Amino acid sequence: MSVTSVTARVPAKINLQLAVGPPRPDGYHGLVTVFHAVSLFDEVTVVAARGDSVTVAGEGAEHVPADGDNLALRAVRALREAITDRDGVAPETGLDGRAGEGGRAGVAVAIRKRIPVAGGLAGGSADAAAALVACNALWRAELSQSDLCEVAGRVGSDVAFAVVGGTAVGRGRGEQLTQALVAPVTYHWVLAFADGPLSTPAVYRTLDRLRGDAAVGEPELSAELMTALRAGDAVRLGAALSNDLQAPALAMFPALGKTLAAGREFGALGALVSGSGPTCLFLARDDRHATDLAVALSGEGVCRSVVKATGAVPGASLIAR
Ligand code: C5P
Repeated sequence: MSVTSVTARVPAKINLQLAVGPPRPDGYHGLVTVFHAVSLFDEVTVVAARGDSVTVAGEGAEHVPADGDNLALRAVRALREAITDRDGVAPETGLDGRAGEGGRAGVAVAIRKRIPVAGGLAGGSADAAAALVACNALWRAELSQSDLCEVAGRVGSDVAFAVVGGTAVGRGRGEQLTQALVAPVTYHWVLAFADGPLSTPAVYRTLDRLRGDAAVGEPELSAELMTALRAGDAVRLGAALSNDLQAPALAMFPALGKTLAAGREFGALGALVSGSGPTCLFLARDDRHATDLAVALSGEGVCRSVVKATGAVPGASLIAR
């Protein structure tokens, strides 16, 4: 049987540091961030079809736009444009060398979500990255990872990191990546999902409002954090976690204060709002401690649900079906 379908899986990200500068003229904020990919995955399948379409199933699927605004579909279009610019013609075929139904290289995208929507874990960006990697294979386009990252940067600030994974420093809007020098250590995390979403643009606006007229310097990479990562020292890493979006996320979602406090009380090495929230993340000593923390947090009723995850894991990659 011919193969016209490709599936990629892609991890959620957390930010071990998120330092935010003043707003730029284009409305974005200059960042220095340390991205870290964790083992909570969405799956994206692309199938050659007559036109482009998207379906979404799983965690929070009803909140994901299933139209042209869907980030995965925007990624498909951006990749098609990049290939057309390079080759002078649009990609035309699926893996078996046949065009999609009706002869056009459309793509039906099917997203299976486990990463919560609007949770501060870059789930939408992850799906876009998976769509890029999957279409690159479906169209046999053979773009390199760095070419894919360039396309990714046009789709969203966090998409390039979801292509690369691991632990990386992000600058600019977050799309300019440098792989971080880290010890090959697996960290054990507990993620606490909140009841409800937070809008990323609204959290950035709240940060600007809270800062008011105060002078805001350019963001800088945390030396303590990088030292902890180089040493593979979970205790130091826990103490060095930081996020400038935590204060605005707490102002907009005060219940997160209780979630963070509960995690600290149960011995988390570090407790932090993830990205723009409202997911909270906790660093555990080891797998067993992560299980204890997860059970304790569930028992306290301070979040909707919890998952354990390890990091760092690789970025978007093809999986056999
Ligand atoms: O790039 P992305 O679409 O993921 O960003 C979502 C929103 O988050 C932006 O429209 C902007 O309001 C805010 N943002 C920002 N500065 C960044 C990244 C995102 O202000 N570096």
